Amino acid sequence: MNRGPYLFLGAFAILAFSWTAAILANQLGYGAVTPHYDSLAGQAFPAKHPGIVERGAQVYTDLGCVTCHTQQVRRADIGSDLARGWGERASVGRDYMHESTVQLGSNRFGPDLRNVGARIEDPNVFYQMLYAPAEDSAMPAYRFLFDEVKVVGQVSDDALNLDAPTGYQIVPTERARSLVAYLAYRNDTYAYPETNFVPTEPEAESDDEAAETEEGH
Ligand code: HEC
Repeated sequence: MNRGPYLFLGAFAILAFSWTAAILANQLGYGAVTPHYDSLAGQAFPAKHPGIVERGAQVYTDLGCVTCHTQQVRRADIGSDLARGWGERASVGRDYMHESTVQLGSNRFGPDLRNVGARIEDPNVFYQMLYAPAEDSAMPAYRFLFDEVKVVGQVSDDALNLDAPTGYQIVPTERARSLVAYLAYRNDTYAYPETNFVPTEPEAESDDEAAETEEGH
């Protein structure tokens, strides 16, 4: 008996199913996402990024911050991100819709940065962290993002309030300014309709699981 047609149909069915599940379903789900217009606030969320934030995103990508930082707050039933104060709610697809390169990351050597702009409001804290992180910090310094300029006459208006070597002032480069604008803009606190369905509490331990833990399994 010639099984060729069956083999062909089987292979075709498997490919068609994978394509539908992996590509079509995601395209229908996320491809159609639009900003949410909030009539009370009179604006759409997420808002389009200002130009300086876009440039900052490029600097973030170029410097590989993603190797140590994620930008994704996980739901309370699959991670302790909310308990750690990394966000008020879990991230949803719509949060990323204006980002051309989504920096989700996979390694959490440092804290998640998705809402760092909501946690740290003073831009000087970002500058300090990039120029000279605390001595016991595992965050690397990015001094090349700053110019150490000799003070001649008055200190420049652009100079940062950081510990400069005597006689020098520290002025952020354009890249540093954009990066800090980008960090300050990381703030996904807006509640979209779909965020109401994302768990904000860890899953209650079921009786069975509790019993198993007690028995030491
Ligand atoms: C080698 C790993 C590593 C890299 C690369 C790295 N960081 Fe960090 N970062 C850390 C660690 C660890 C901390 C936490 C330590 C601390 O707060 O002192 C941190 C803390 C931070 C914080 C403070 C977060 C908070 O919640 O307090 C910011 C902002 C930050 N990093 C931004 C950046 C940016 C921007 C880049 C890229 C230019 C970057 N990091 C690259 C490891 C890294």
